[in-house]
Formats: sequence, structure tokens, C-alpha cells
Amino acid sequence: MANLWLKKNISQLVNEASDEDRGLKRTIGTWGLIALGIGAIIGAGLFTSTAEAIAFHTGPAVSISFLIAGIGCALAGLCYAEFASMIPIAGSAYTYAYATMGEFIAWIIGWDLVLEYGVASAKVATSWSEYLNKLLSNVFHVQIPYAFSHSPFQYSADGVRGIMNLPALFIILLLSLVLIRGIKGSSLVNGIIVIIKVGIVLLFIGFGWSYINPANYTPYIPSGAADPSGEYGWTGIFAGASVVFFAFIGFDAVSTAAQESKNPQRDMPKGILLSLLICVILYILFAHVLAGVANYREFRTVGQEASVTYVIDTYMKDYRWLSTLVTVAILAGFSSVILVMLMGQSRVFFSMSKDGLVPKVFSQLHPKFKTPWKSNLLFFVFVGLIAAFVPASVISNMTVIGTLFAFVLVCLGIIILRKSDPATPRPFRTPWVPIVPVLGIAVCTGLIYSLGPANWLRLIIWLIIGIFIYIGYGIRHSKLQKDAAGKSDRVRHANWDLNRR
Ligand code: ALA
Repeated sequence: MANLWLKKNISQLVNEASDEDRGLKRTIGTWGLIALGIGAIIGAGLFTSTAEAIAFHTGPAVSISFLIAGIGCALAGLCYAEFASMIPIAGSAYTYAYATMGEFIAWIIGWDLVLEYGVASAKVATSWSEYLNKLLSNVFHVQIPYAFSHSPFQYSADGVRGIMNLPALFIILLLSLVLIRGIKGSSLVNGIIVIIKVGIVLLFIGFGWSYINPANYTPYIPSGAADPSGEYGWTGIFAGASVVFFAFIGFDAVSTAAQESKNPQRDMPKGILLSLLICVILYILFAHVLAGVANYREFRTVGQEASVTYVIDTYMKDYRWLSTLVTVAILAGFSSVILVMLMGQSRVFFSMSKDGLVPKVFSQLHPKFKTPWKSNLLFFVFVGLIAAFVPASVISNMTVIGTLFAFVLVCLGIIILRKSDPATPRPFRTPWVPIVPVLGIAVCTGLIYSLGPANWLRLIIWLIIGIFIYIGYGIRHSKLQKDAAGKSDRVRHANWDLNRR
């Protein structure tokens, strides 16, 4: 009889990792980790979801939503930091759960991370498509037709229906091929992209501040009754927080680089928490400027797509040069987010495949490039289809709800671990346990609640599919289950021998 709650032993995990990854060099320092975090965090959430939240949920008060989402992430981040310093090996929340809450919960988290990493890359790809079109029209005065840059569930203002999002599919293909080829020297490229991304955010805040029209802040929190086109009011602000939560996703990607970090015990918590803190501050300021320069109603119509470029082109006319620069930088930034997400995805499935929970194909390495190329190709098909045919807002909400659910489990894991493994050394300790994890669970659950029944249903269906796969495949092929069964057989035989003597 299989035991769903079998756990990996923490010291065994750390040993396995050092055997498996002897090839990985420990080259990343504190700043490298912070850059990795920011590289994965700043992307489509800031440059597209902010406008969506302003238009339909928050009005000008979007900064409050960023603050709420940031607090939720910080609480979960503090829990992540304890895990990452204690179990400093790749595999992210999946590995942590395997050591603390057992195989079944680890499976659920691993399955959930497909939403966080795989499905998130599809959303970023659709945003990439928006900004590419804006660049093409601004610089070359051509555009990819609406039908071929939108999903079949979207209609333009003139009633044109989308067929498929070709640019989104293209960027996923391109970056999957880059991953298959292997990305040596990627941390230098990542560092450059991070500087560019942070640079444009600062430029936008700095230049945009003087174009803020105070009239756009009145009313600061529109009431839903006065403006029925959106949700608004405080309910809207919470709904907006779950929309912009997408902008924070990725800080946990820092934890996937644990085995390449020079001093993971010290640097992992710093990498996770500082990258998050920097982004919270930048986001709040950026969102405040965006909502102050243009009126919130515009983001429902003309300013809905490629919103940042729209705002610069329309209101900051002295800075038209900035518009093209920003668009190019955003495209580069999105590409780096997609790359980190797709890589995180293949790494999690790599670990799960080594553990026998998903088929071996996900851990087979390319003979020359030494990358999990079959996994990359399979995820290209999965993510590519979503990017091409599903509307961005649906993809985004799926990602957010999946990630929030994983965060709830991570917070729970810390409480459990303090009881089950009180003696294991913790270079970083989450402060005020259980208050911090309990608050983390409360905020993340509140955000899940505000995503509404359609998204709850999608998450439930996703989890049910996952449970079926676990029962049908994972549990039968799990290495841990086989080892445990072997051990109990050996014990049975030993007892039998003893009884015969
Ligand atoms: N946080 C990442 C983004 O906004 C996923 O693109």
C-alpha cells in the first residue's frame, strides 16, 4: 500500500544534490541572485496587468493593490527564504514540500508550478505580441493583422475576431530553441537586461511625474455604483491586487539557482527578499505615475494594449524618443522573463522526473547540449498552444491562482517544519512564526477569494487532473515509494528469517 505522505530526508536531499550537480559551478553572488530575481519579476505584470487593473478594478488607486499584493508576496517570501537557506538545492517549492509535507503535497505543488512557470510564460508571450505590434506600427508603420495577433476569444473595437496569436507562438518557439541550445554566459546577459529594465522604469517614473494630471486622481477610488463598467471600490482594489499579483511572480525563481550560489545559506534569503523589496517600491511608484498621467477610463479602450507606450505617445510628447526605447527594452525584458520561467519549468519537471513522478522523457539530456531538450520541446507545444489560443486575462488569472495556492502550501510548510524538524540548522529563520506564515496564508487565500468562482473552478479542475495523473502514474513510478516498498520487503524477510531460526 503506497504511503502518500512519504518524505525525503533533508540531509539525503542535500547529498543527492551535491552528487548530481557536481558539474554546476558556484559562481553567483548576492547581487547576481538579486539580478536573477528582478530579471524574473519585472515583466508583463507591470507593463500590461497594471493597466488592466486600473481600467476594470481600481481606477487610480492601483498603487494600493500593488501594496497589498506586495505584502502577500513578502510574507510568503519570508517563508521561502527559510526553506531556501535550509534546503539550498534546486527544485523550488516542490523540493521543499517533498522534505516537509510528503510526496502527495510535493506533487500538488510541482503540478501547480506548471501554472506558475509554464502558463506564466504564455501570458508574457501575449504581452510581447502587444508591444511588438506597437513597435512595428510606431517605427515601420505596419502591423500584424488583429486576427493573427489575438486569440479566437478576442474581438477588436471594430468587431474583427482573433484567429491565433502568431507572435506569441513565435517568441515561445524561439526561446525554447535557445534553452535547448543552452544559455552559457546567461547571467551576464540577464544582468544587462535587468539594468535596462530598471532603467526604463526609473526613467518613466522620473519623466512621467511632471506629466501627472491631479484631476486623474479624482475620485481616487471610484465607486462601483457610480461607474458600472468595472468593479471598483475596495472590492475592486482587492480584485486588482490579485490581477497585479502576476507582476510579483518569479521571485521564487531565485531559489532554483541555489546550487549555483556561492553562499546559498546567506545569499538566498537576501536574493529573494531584496529583489522583492526593490520591485515593490518601483511598482508602487510606476503604477502611481501611469494612473496619474492618463485617465483610468482610457485603459479600457485606446490605452488597453501596450499601455506604457500609449501613455508616453499620447501625453509625454517631449519624450517620444523614450517611447521606442521603452518598447524595445520591454520586449527584451519580456524575453528574459519567458526564458527564466521556461527554464524554471524544465528544472522542476527535471527534478520530478528524477524522482519518478513524471516520465523519464523530462530528464533526458541532449547528447551534445546537455539540456533537457525533449522537455523543452513538450513544454513548447503546451505553452505555445495556450499563448496562441487563450486570451491573456484568462492565462494570467490561472497563473496567479496557481501561484497563490503554492504560496499557501509553502507558508504551511514552515509551520509544519518547525514542529517536525526543530533541530535542523536554519541559517535564516522566518520571524514571528507562526504569525508570519499564518498572515501569509490569510492574505494569499484572500487574494484567491477575490479571483472569483470561474478561476476557483479552473484551479479545481487543474488539481483534479493532477491528482489523476499522480494516481495513474506518479505513485506507481515514484522512486521513494519503490525504495520504501523494498525496505519493508527486506524488513519482512529479515523478520521471517528470525522467526525460522
Ligand atoms: N512577474 C513576471 C511578469 O510580470 C512573471 O512578467
